[in-house]
Order: sequence, then structure tokens, then C-alpha cells
Amino acid sequence: MMGGVAVWVGVLGLLLGCVTTAPTNKNRDWDIYSFHINSTVTSRYATTVIISRVANRIDQSQEIEFHVKIPKNAFISKFKMTIEGQTYDGVVKQKEEAQQQYTQAVSRGQSAGIVSSVGRSLEEFKTSVTVAALSKVTFELTYEELLKRRLGKYKLLIHARPMQPVADFKIDVYINEHPGINFLEIKGGLSTKELANAITKTQASTEAWVHFYPSKEQQSQCDSCGEEGLNGDLVISYDVHRQKSIGDLKRSGVYFVHHFAPSDLQRIPKNVVFVIDHSGSMHGRKMDQTREALMKILGDLAEDDHFGLITFDSSVSPWRNELLPANQNNLEAAKSFVQRIQDRGATDINAAVLRGTEMLNRHLREGTASLLILLTDGDPTTGETNLDKIHKNIKEAIDMKFPLYCLGFGMDVNFEFLEKMALDNNGVGRRIYEDSDAALQLQGFYEEVATPLLTDIQMVYQGGANLTQTNFSQYYNGSEIVVAGQITDNNIDFTVEVIAISKSNKVTYSKTKPTEEPITVTSDSNFQRLWAYLTVKQLLDKEVLLSGDEKEKVKNETLDLCLRYGFVTPLTSMVVTKPQGEESQQRSFKKVASRLRLRKLFETTKSLKIPDISGGPVIRFLLPAEGQALPLCYDIPTGLSVGLLMDPKNDLSMNGQLGQPGSGGYQKIVIHYSDQLIDFDTNGITYNDGQNATYFTWSININHEKDSVSLILQDKQMDVTIGSTTVVIMLYEKNGKMFLWPVLRQRPTGDNITGIMARPPVAYEEVQGTTIKLKIQDKEVDVSRDSAVDLNVRSAPTVTCWLMSLESALQGELEDFTVTQL
Ligand SMILES: *[C@@H]1O[C@H](CO)[C@@H](O)[C@H](O)[C@H]1NC(C)=O
Ligand SMILES: *[C@@H]1O[C@H](CO)[C@@H](O)[C@H](O)[C@H]1NC(C)=O
Ligand SMILES: *[C@@H]1O[C@H](CO)[C@@H](O)[C@H](O)[C@H]1NC(C)=O
Ligand SMILES: *[C@@H]1O[C@H](CO)[C@@H](O)[C@H](O)[C@H]1NC(C)=O
Ligand SMILES: *[C@@H]1O[C@H](CO)[C@@H](O)[C@H](O)[C@H]1NC(C)=O
Ligand SMILES: *[C@@H]1O[C@H](CO)[C@@H](O)[C@H](O)[C@H]1NC(C)=O
Ligand SMILES: *[C@@H]1O[C@H](CO)[C@@H](O)[C@H](O)[C@H]1NC(C)=O
Repeated sequence: MMGGVAVWVGVLGLLLGCVTTAPTNKNRDWDIYSFHINSTVTSRYATTVIISRVANRIDQSQEIEFHVKIPKNAFISKFKMTIEGQTYDGVVKQKEEAQQQYTQAVSRGQSAGIVSSVGRSLEEFKTSVTVAALSKVTFELTYEELLKRRLGKYKLLIHARPMQPVADFKIDVYINEHPGINFLEIKGGLSTKELANAITKTQASTEAWVHFYPSKEQQSQCDSCGEEGLNGDLVISYDVHRQKSIGDLKRSGVYFVHHFAPSDLQRIPKNVVFVIDHSGSMHGRKMDQTREALMKILGDLAEDDHFGLITFDSSVSPWRNELLPANQNNLEAAKSFVQRIQDRGATDINAAVLRGTEMLNRHLREGTASLLILLTDGDPTTGETNLDKIHKNIKEAIDMKFPLYCLGFGMDVNFEFLEKMALDNNGVGRRIYEDSDAALQLQGFYEEVATPLLTDIQMVYQGGANLTQTNFSQYYNGSEIVVAGQITDNNIDFTVEVIAISKSNKVTYSKTKPTEEPITVTSDSNFQRLWAYLTVKQLLDKEVLLSGDEKEKVKNETLDLCLRYGFVTPLTSMVVTKPQGEESQQRSFKKVASRLRLRKLFETTKSLKIPDISGGPVIRFLLPAEGQALPLCYDIPTGLSVGLLMDPKNDLSMNGQLGQPGSGGYQKIVIHYSDQLIDFDTNGITYNDGQNATYFTWSININHEKDSVSLILQDKQMDVTIGSTTVVIMLYEKNGKMFLWPVLRQRPTGDNITGIMARPPVAYEEVQGTTIKLKIQDKEVDVSRDSAVDLNVRSAPTVTCWLMSLESALQGELEDFTVTQL
């Protein structure tokens, strides 16, 4: 063991209901100077990285906090902190072991904490660390999740709340779906009018990119944003193309993933019984919202559906003793019953669900799908109240004949009890949040199960092993069945068969002859993690239902996978440790150095001058820096023609002519791609597709897509995607002058890419001395602190940068970057 071990910690997956208010930023003496979220989705498996860089601004050490929210279904898989150039990686350990390490550190008087999840879903991640005077810390958190298809779409939810406006704020999303992306839309609280120009969306057939780069001013201007900056969600919804009924079957290495979601089937009439709690606790808005949702749901039933309604408190009152067809008369009568439901009394869940089960059991019709839906907001308080007995009674009564869905309304319910009861009976538990949209949440849930297309589904994989769940009781339109596993032997034919019951008959889909449509082989390296994720999720659900030795066995198996794949789950925690002692001398030296440097920076900030962008014989360019707060900048003389981007392999090049003194950017930009040409000036755009030329002005909207070229013109901004490269050309108007500015959104891949836009972000270190120098690739470069206008974002904010010569910035002579012809 090393000398002293400080254990830092993070988090609490805060228990719902006991959320503490975060301190406001106003009195904080630390600054988040960079906040990036990067999400990559392939085959519906999303990996998201949040990187927050924070500077301690005061002359003494202090506690700095990292606080983010992540989706309920995600597993945290990595966490690290970098302090004074040293990186400390979190290690996933069994919960008890992590706890022990934590307790030991605390008992030694060290500040400590622990990254873990509370309950079955982790919603909030918070950690803090003590950072030395005038030092910086970088937090990096990674989480993973398999996006679930609901109502015909996958949703990637990104929550952004850095707690202050951040100079360098970015969300980048990349989606790659082999079957092709059908549609993609961006919603959520951050997708508002004020922030619209900060969002760019680029969609190719199988890939899509979303970039959200709001300026610092914009971060406090949106609906839900204030002095504390952004606070809201970016929700990216999409679906993929589906042609074959067997679905999308892919393998990568020994792992395979099967997405099955046929939609070309007839709906199966259903028998549905709603069991509604109207006990006293439902009083007021909850009851109103339940009534509202039920009215709508009844209106959506199809004529060949049969339905029943049961209300319960301490006694159970069915509307009718039998299920009735959803015809006009019955629906009218049911609606007037719903209008009259009043709250009163205690909660007898056991009797109510048993009654619903009995009604359904008496009403099993050939060729239909039965389901039981329970809505309650409380614990069983009367009749049978022993939770285990209720589980047992209900499981025996239902006997796997149909699924039970349990909706827990509000925060007072024992959700674990409801969820276990649902899982026990092939259903799912869902929480309905007590909010103004509760009626919509109830309807939304109902819609998900409203259209059964198949029942008794068995997915059979010859030559497959270590499969995730393969038997499903019902499949609903808009959802999806996902199975992952391993292929045992490359030499044996791997075959898939889906056997199920549809409206009128038994159906079988198969993919037996490998010559017909061989399984798609991809290089997606995520399949193993996707498999592990799904396996762990299902084992955690299974574990809840078991007891005794069986439970221990499943727990062991789950824990083993969590440790192997680094997932933070209810069984594991993550600990970050930092050896102390040996480097104390070096550390204190560094501390003094960084203190001096930071003082200098703050002094300069105060007298920051705003550059005169409209004048001058040069145009200032920004060059992003890797992992540093301040970007680099350099000047290029006006009037020159420069090579912006050259990609010889893809026969793509882009040149631009800078405006005359007084202009803020380019006056002309030309893109050449094989025999095509796109020519931009401040009046309009000429597009020559190799045969014919078209001209359009900046003020119209265009959405053109042909072969591998896509042109989208909107709001005086054109997004040009050629193959896998995307550039955005923006038309600016400043002080009555018009100019163009190009931004590289998606860098071409491959070698030999040149041009001033091709320069990747630069890594540098600050060097202490009498003059300010930066160290770039082992070379020291003189710089001065200056500022530039960041034209990469519409609002064109003025940012601070390290100004250096063009030669140092581009690592070449000016001549290397000029062209004689556009
Ligand atoms: C996002 O993450 C992916 C995968 O790690 C990486 O390839 C990509 O460069 C990152 N994108 C940005 C904009 O940082
Ligand atoms: C299932 O959903 C698809 C897509 O939304 C729709 O076209 C189809 O009509 C639906 N099928 C039924 C039976 O409702
Ligand atoms: C799936 O269902 C079939 C038929 O009911 C049964 O034979 C099989 O054992 C089930 N498989 C699993 C893994 O439960
Ligand atoms: C299934 O998993 C077990 C342990 O996780 C492993 O030993 C075994 O090799 C796997 N089976 C196949 C066919 O890969
Ligand atoms: C689970 O693992 C622990 C420790 O490895 C072991 O002592 C125990 O016997 C295992 N339990 C089962 C049911 O396999
Ligand atoms: C070019 O224009 C001609 C005449 O208008 C038309 O026949 C031809 O289809 C066009 N070519 C392309 C590629 O659009
Ligand atoms: C890059 O350029 C070098 C030298 O011009 C050449 O040898 C190499 O083949 C090029 N690589 C590619 C991928 O074009």
C-alpha cells in the first residue's frame, strides 16, 4: 500500500424526493471554463462522455463540485479526474468493498465520498474534490445505455446543466445506424427559438450529426436558462429503416445482435382491464388526471377490443362484472362511470388485482391478447398487506397467461414492490411523475401497449450461446425486441427463427439458408458491451424475483459482469484514489508556478481589449486547443486566396478569398468535388452538378440531396455534406459589410488532408518565464494574450486567445497555404 490513500468520491444517485438544492454560482469562486458532452450511438447503443473543466480562482484550496444528471437506464462506466496534470481513474468495485475503503478514509479524517447508485436507477451524479489554490481540475464521466424503441422511435436524452454559463460549451452527437436513418428530430427544452441557431443537424443515409454550440450569452437567454446558464434537455429522436420482417441481424466478432420490430402485421384485438386506485391519497389533481387519461384511453379502444374497469380503495368495485366489447354504447356508459370516480378510503391492491385477474381469466378469447393494467399511488394499506404474500397470490392467479403492467403514480408509492410484481408477470413497472403532464404520461404508456401484433414470441438461435432473453409474451407496434448473444462456432451455420402467434395464425420467420441473406458483418466494436449491458439489465431484473441460493448465484454472475465491464449498478460502486506523499515537493512547486501564472491571467483579463474586427489589414483566425481553456489565434493578411481544405483521396478541395481591409472574413469560397463545383459569394451560391448550373440567393431555403452531396440552405447558412465531410458556410453581416465564413463540422477521414481548416486542435502547455511562451510539440512559441471573434458560432462572441505567428500556428509558411486560383 502507498502511504496515505485519499478516497474521493462522488455521488449519490440521490433518492428521489430528497434532492438538495445546489449552491448557486454567484458566490462560487470557481469557474467552469469548458463543458463538453459527446455522445456516440451505433446500433442503438449510446456512449456518452461529459467533460467539465474547472478552475479554482482563489488563493486557497477549496472543494469543487461536479454535478450532472444521466438517463435512468444508463450505467456509468468510467470516471476520471485530472488535477495538476495527473489523472486518477475510478475503479469499479463491489459495493461493500468500495464502502469499506471509503469508511477507512473517513475514519482517518480524510475527506471522502463514493460513486454509487442508490435504488434501481441512478439519476443524479455528484462528486466533489478539493483543488489546490489557483489550480484546475478536469472531470470526465462516461455512461452507456441501449436506446429502447417506444412508439416508433429511439430517444437519446442529454441533460445539460453546467450551473453557470460556460465560454466553451458543446454538445456533439454522432449516430451511425447500419439499416439507415429514417428520420431524426431534435426536441427538448434546449431546442427553442433562442437557441435554434446554435443547433446544427446533418443527416446522411446511415449517419447523422447533431452539434449544439450555444454562445455564452445564449446560455442565459433560453426559456429555462438563467444566471446559472443552461438547464434543460436535448432530446434526439430517430428511427431506422426496416425492410425485412426477420429484422436486423448483425454480427461483429463472436457477438451478434438481433433487432426485431415487424410492423406489417394486423393488430390483435385485446382484452384489457384497468384497475384504478381511488383511495383517499389520489385526492385532487391525481384523480383529475387519471380521469382525463382514462377518458382519452377509452376513446382510443377499437371496436373488437373488450375492456373492463375496476376501481378500488378498501373495497373493490368493478364497473361491470364482465369485460364488454368497446362499442359506442358501452364506451359512453364507461365514460360516465369514469367521470363519477371519487377518491376515498384505504388501498387494497391485492383484492383489486385478483379481481381483475379473475375477470380476464374468465374472458380468454381465441386470437386475442389480454393485459391487466394497475394504477396506484400508494402501498397496500388494507386487506392483505404482506408484500410477499401479495406477490405470490398474484403470480399464482395470473400464471403467465397475460402481462401485468403496474403504474406507480407519484413518489409515495413503493415502486420496488410494484416493479417486482410487474416483472413477475411479464410486464413492466412504470413511474408516473406527479406533474402537469401526468395524464399524458398515462396515455403515453397506454399507447405503447395499445397495439399488440404478436403474442408468445420465441426467438430461436441455432449456434448461439449466452443469449439474452429470448421468450416474450407480447410484442406491440412501435416497440422492438432485442436479443444479443455469442456465436459458438464459426463453421456451423448460425440460423435464426422467430416463432409467434399473430392475429390469425402462428407465424414463423426464419433466416436459415446462409446463402439467402447472410448475417451482416460489421466492425461495430460495441456489440460485446451491448450484450453485457442487456445481460446485466436482465439479470438485475431477475435477481429481484429470486431468493436464497438462486438469488446469490445470479448476484454473483451479475457482479462478475459488472466488474468485468466496469458498470456502476446497484451491486457496484466506483472509487477514485490518489496516492499521496511521494510527490509532495514537486507538487508544491507546481502549485506556486500555477499561482503566478493565473494571477497574470486575471490581471490581463481586466484590461481585455475588444479587437476592431471591422478594420485592419489582417483577419484573425482561431485554432482550437486540445484540453485547454484558451484557444490559439493568428492573423492572415487580407485579400489573399488560401487553401481551406484539400482531400486528394476523395477528390475534394475548398479554397477561399479573403476580403479587402475592413472585411471580417471571406468574399468568395469555392468547393470542387470531382466534376462538381459550388461557388459562394456574398450575393448567392452557384451549384454546378457537372452538367447544369443552378444559382440561388442566400435568402431562400434549399434542401438538396443527390448521390453523396447534400446541400441545406437555411437562415443564411449552407450545410454542405460531401461523403463524410461536412462544412458549413455562413453569411455574416457586420457594420454594413457582408462576408462569408466557413466552419468544418465533420472532418474528412484519411491521410494527406491539408489546408488551413485541416489543422486539428493543438495540444499545448504554458511555460513560465518573463515572457509568455507555449510549448507545442516540444517547441517553445512566443505568444501574447489577445482576443478574437469566434465566427464558428452565429452569435460571433469575442473570446480570449493566445496570439501567435501564422507560422507557429499552422506549422508552415504562408506560401504553403495560399493558392493562385480558387
Ligand atoms: C466523440 O467521441 C468519439 C468516440 O470516442 C470520438 O471519436 C470523437 O472524436 C468525439 N467527438 C468530439 C467532437 O469530441
Ligand atoms: C404499426 O405502426 C406503423 C408505423 O407507425 C403503422 O404504419 C402501422 O399501420 C401500424 N400497425 C397497426 C396494426 O396499427
Ligand atoms: C421459451 O418458451 C419455450 C416454449 O414455451 C420453452 O420451451 C423454452 O424453454 C423457453 N425458453 C426459455 C429460455 O425460457
Ligand atoms: C458464455 O459465457 C461464459 C462465461 O461468461 C464463457 O465461459 C463461455 O465461453 C461463453 N460461451 C460462449 C459460447 O462463448
Ligand atoms: C458467490 O460468490 C462468493 C464469493 O466469490 C462465494 O463465496 C459464494 O459461494 C458464491 N455463491 C454462489 C451461490 O455461487
Ligand atoms: C440538365 O438540363 C437538361 C435540360 O434542361 C436536362 O434534360 C437534364 O436532365 C439536366 N441534367 C441533370 C443532371 O439535371
Ligand atoms: C499521402 O501522400 C504520400 C506522399 O505524397 C503518398 O505516398 C501516400 O500514398 C499518400 N497517402 C494517401 C492515403 O493518399
